[in-house]
Amino acid sequence: MRLLSPLLASLLAIPASSRYIVPGGRWLDTNGSVVNAHGGGITFDEKTGKFWWFGEHKTEDSPEGGGVSVYSSEDLATWTPGELALAPVGGHPYISPDNVIQRPKVAYSSETDDYHMWWHADNSTYGLLLQGHAVSSTIGGPYKFVDATAPLGNWSQDFGLFTDYKDGRSYALYSNGDSKDGRDVYITSMNKNLTGLEETIYRFPKYDLEAPTIMQTDKSYWALMSHKTGYRPNNVVAFRADSLSGPWSQPFIVSPLNTRTFNSQSGFTLRIKGSKKTTYLYIGDQWDSNSVWDSRYIWLPIQTDESKKTLELEWHDVYDLNVKTGEWKPIKGKTYGAKQALTHGDAYKQEANFATDGMILTGISGNESTVTFTGIEGTGKPQLVSFYYQNTDDMGFGDQPGGTPDRIGGAWQLRRISSVVVNGDPASMQTLYQRDTHKGIILSTPLQLTLEKGRKNTITIGGLDNGFGVRGADLDRIVVYPSEK
Ligand SMILES: *[C@@H]1O[C@H](CO)[C@@H](O)[C@H](O)[C@H]1NC(C)=O
Ligand SMILES: *[C@@H]1O[C@H](CO)[C@@H](O)[C@H](O)[C@H]1NC(C)=O
Ligand SMILES: *[C@@H]1O[C@H](CO)[C@@H](O)[C@H](O)[C@H]1NC(C)=O
Ligand SMILES: *[C@@H]1O[C@H](CO)[C@@H](O)[C@H](O)[C@H]1NC(C)=O
Ligand SMILES: *[C@@H]1O[C@H](CO)[C@@H](O)[C@H](O)[C@H]1NC(C)=O
Repeated sequence: MRLLSPLLASLLAIPASSRYIVPGGRWLDTNGSVVNAHGGGITFDEKTGKFWWFGEHKTEDSPEGGGVSVYSSEDLATWTPGELALAPVGGHPYISPDNVIQRPKVAYSSETDDYHMWWHADNSTYGLLLQGHAVSSTIGGPYKFVDATAPLGNWSQDFGLFTDYKDGRSYALYSNGDSKDGRDVYITSMNKNLTGLEETIYRFPKYDLEAPTIMQTDKSYWALMSHKTGYRPNNVVAFRADSLSGPWSQPFIVSPLNTRTFNSQSGFTLRIKGSKKTTYLYIGDQWDSNSVWDSRYIWLPIQTDESKKTLELEWHDVYDLNVKTGEWKPIKGKTYGAKQALTHGDAYKQEANFATDGMILTGISGNESTVTFTGIEGTGKPQLVSFYYQNTDDMGFGDQPGGTPDRIGGAWQLRRISSVVVNGDPASMQTLYQRDTHKGIILSTPLQLTLEKGRKNTITIGGLDNGFGVRGADLDRIVVYPSEK
């Protein structure tokens, strides 16, 4: 047997440079576990030539103090897990499992040739409002805890970190809490060693926003932030400026109204400078407040127009991103509409002028009142199916003063849950979470299914128990995507 030359072997080891990204999907790491890196940030590391994703390691036992996880990738789609980058320490005043360790970010200091992790450090009642700092000589860690401090003496809640690609300087972004005196978002320069803060260069006054991130295009800085609705999505806003120190524009909404930013919260933006194109990704969280450790990720391409001074997120169920060239393209799927679906039991088709076929499939409940899509073409290999739905349970939060209840005093429900069965085989059953949308707002959520090769597949959707009932959300259509090459 002839051995491969080292060069050829290393070429073969390079993974495909383009892979699909599926917002809201169940993302598995190379170990087969669901990626657990919430409220995260991604750092491209020149030394390793890889993207490194740091995020909150959330577990059912320790949803806020699970430490910081780290994953590495060459293509932003294949993620290799590392050991915890920052592990919680029992009894520690700032990084015990009872603490809050949120929104970690990492940047490299060329002055000191090491990596610095910063995050929102707090106790469980959010009474400390500090910024944590840890350091490592390698990007993957483990990071050594240094301190948790009050930035220039003030409070700090949701944390972001921005590095200007033109001069390499880094800035801490932080909302300074919910108190009446706070409610500002700060941009404060960090020293070159990334060991502390220097000077506040801008303060977004009294907008009462959180989860800040800044992205930089050729001519502009864009700051994205969310409103404060806990683990429930809202309409994320952006501000634009020529300079980090302002003046900044009025805030504006970045996604179609009432989609609540496609059911997500901001937190990070990633600039991918490819050989042909620079692409920007919105790196958001699709929180599940009923089981926050099982939340998903919404990553979407961002479109900006420098002359109109606009920024918009673009929804795609699945897109193919090539990090080398910076190019991406949406994948085309085949649509099966409500009109051609079969209904059983009490499920029925109801007029809906906003729906794809002018009707929506409603009354889906248990496994008696179901809906079946027939004649579905499959490849015989796993493929992505997006379920377009409407969930009008309406996330009023009337129990919170200042909230905007869709139903005053209403018991807020996060989601409906459907069962999805392929070709009538109970063993194929998968669970589909359908978070609240809004009246007349149709969003999609994906599952990976294996259909038989050919055009005779059926997909049946029923309702599962969500603690409030066994009803599935209303369906508009399903879209079946080709298998990944
Ligand atoms: C990957 O999986 C192996 C085998 O289950 C396990 O021993 C290892 O700890 C996992 N690695 C990480 C980083 O989760
Ligand atoms: C920054 O790091 C350099 C190199 O380690 C060190 O000499 C210098 O004192 C540091 N400066 C600050 C402000 O920590
Ligand atoms: C968190 O810190 C604040 C300020 O020190 C304190 O008042 C509060 O009791 C602390 N909460 C817990 C759970 O220790
Ligand atoms: C923090 O900043 C706010 C304004 O953003 C100010 O009103 C408040 O006094 C400051 N608090 C401290 C502790 O410096
Ligand atoms: C669905 O059917 C299974 C058996 O086929 C049964 O065990 C289960 O209780 C049913 N669920 C509902 C919600 O009706």
